Amino acid sequence: MEADNVKKVAVLGAGVMGHGIAQVAAVAGYDVAVRDIAQEFLDSADSGVKNSLSRFVGRGRMSQDDMDAALARIKYTLDLGEAVRGAQLVVEAIPERMDIKHKVWAEAAAKAAKDAILASNTSSLSITMIAEAVPNPERFIGMHFFNPPAMMKLVEVNQGEKTSEATVEAVQELARRMGKTPVWVRKDAPGFIVNRVLVTYLNEAGKLLDKYGVEQIDAAMQHKAGMPLGPFMLSDLIGTDIVYNILKVFEEHIGPDYAPCARITELYESKKLGRKTGEGFYSYETRPSVTEDQAEGFDVRLLLKPFVEEAEKVVAEGIASEEDVDTAMKLGANLPRGPFEMKSMGLGEEKPILTEKKDGILIVTVNRPGKLNSMTTEMLELIDEALDDAVADKSIRCILFKGAGDRAFCAGADISQFPNLDVDGARKLSKLGQGVYRKIMKLPKPVVAAVNGYCLGGGNELAIHCDFRLASEKASFGQPEVNLGLITGWGATYMLPRLIGKSLAAEMMMTGRRLNAEEALRVGLVNAVYPAEEFEAKVQGFVKALVDGPPLALTAMKKLVNLEDLEAASKAEADEFSGLWNYRDLMEGIEAFNERRKPEFKGE
Ligand code: COA
Repeated sequence: MEADNVKKVAVLGAGVMGHGIAQVAAVAGYDVAVRDIAQEFLDSADSGVKNSLSRFVGRGRMSQDDMDAALARIKYTLDLGEAVRGAQLVVEAIPERMDIKHKVWAEAAAKAAKDAILASNTSSLSITMIAEAVPNPERFIGMHFFNPPAMMKLVEVNQGEKTSEATVEAVQELARRMGKTPVWVRKDAPGFIVNRVLVTYLNEAGKLLDKYGVEQIDAAMQHKAGMPLGPFMLSDLIGTDIVYNILKVFEEHIGPDYAPCARITELYESKKLGRKTGEGFYSYETRPSVTEDQAEGFDVRLLLKPFVEEAEKVVAEGIASEEDVDTAMKLGANLPRGPFEMKSMGLGEEKPILTEKKDGILIVTVNRPGKLNSMTTEMLELIDEALDDAVADKSIRCILFKGAGDRAFCAGADISQFPNLDVDGARKLSKLGQGVYRKIMKLPKPVVAAVNGYCLGGGNELAIHCDFRLASEKASFGQPEVNLGLITGWGATYMLPRLIGKSLAAEMMMTGRRLNAEEALRVGLVNAVYPAEEFEAKVQGFVKALVDGPPLALTAMKKLVNLEDLEAASKAEADEFSGLWNYRDLMEGIEAFNERRKPEFKGE
């Protein structure tokens, strides 16, 4: 069966995964039949799909007509024969028990077309073993979506021992047509890619608890290693019972090293299963959080090393390629970087500016997510070096600036540096930032800022010196220096009026008003706004066009667009910026920021 011939998809099981998959397939234009064993499951699937699609419509991501058309394509039935009749793809998402799977698949395979693709959404059982229930296992495959299917981009395409290559190819293509990114899991191995690497990492974190604290490890992994959540908060979110059960499967099928650690076992046995029971590694009476200071004394390499080693085992065992492991961990576990990318960047070294060269692009990541990527002197110097390297390296055709984590591109200059400065120090800081940012303008290659969150103060100044600004819909732009009793010091006073006009620039700088992404687009501050979940792909597409463009013509156009002498304006800005260190108001502003209160300015 080829992807082109698939018109109808049968989904067996109407639970969270089943109805999510049905929704994804219907939105992609397939006719869908959802089957479960009781009407109440079908009813709740129907309302689940309607709620989810309504949210898309509410946020302007889908039209009401498209929603109605997708809903009209989904039929619900209690009759297995009716569901699979005429379907070219059957996806099963029923409870994870081999006996139940065998029973349903024996019946479904007998009633489905002889050439239909048969796919299980299992996350934990062997594809080869499930396939024993069907007469032609070369058509049987794993098609593992992630929860919630409507949002998560990853599909693990899991090949059983007898699955044919043609079936693998067709399912990869079908996943793409459903808007997903497939990774090819070539070998039927417990946990496939994401669960194998992630759950083993959670267990390794647990093994360190005899020497380090829960909050300490979580704080370090979140604030220093750039993970979206520390391992224990993540275990609590997944559920310690689920983590425990997956590890038991690993222990049995991979080896004793994978046995659940003492702490996970203890939580499992005492039914402290995490968020869902109100207690796990943390208590959930209030929402737990960890700060960067709590990370003190824990070296993130202690955990990143086994994390990368597990990924290496997955590759060495022939389960998947390095590239697919990286893709799977980023899309399936929401990690900012895959394990092999982490390794190539120098494991766990806390560089505040990361650089990576890929496909003709120099990616410069501002990497201080715990402090919203606020910019230190050291970081400006590292950016300066990276820019020099970008000019010298002929293979680099475009530079892309990004912010680490999902909250900020850069929330401005690091305010904590300010109290230690005097007038001279402040002038130097202003000139350093101006110089580095002007280098971006003068660079003979296009520079793009991918703004995913807060883009404030010196962060906005970084962005406005780039040739293009692409915003996620979560982005917000501002020059909040005025709230500190300060002025902008890295070029906004002359760049911002030129970009968006004097009135709005003055308003932003003199009142600190922030613009959301839509407003920023309307006033020409950004080139485009993309939905958060598509942001990375859209940015890549945009940058690729520049990489493929004619370098000499791009250089000439960039030079002409920026043909202005800004020397005098920069000097005046640096003088005014540093002059404010002579007065008390600035320190009042900084104290107020630190104390989270409104400042009282006196003009002295
Ligand atoms: N310099 C130094 N640290 C900064 C910072 C900056 N410009 N911006 C944010 N941070 C730090 C915060 O102090 C905080 O650190 P902590 O967790 O150790 O206390 C951390 O980043 C998270 O920021 P927080 O303020 O707790 O987040 P929030 O969601 O409440 O507010 C902002 C987000 C962006 C509105 C707020 O951080 C802010 O106003 N930042 C300053 C922006 C600014 O004035 N920039 C221009 C500087 S010249």
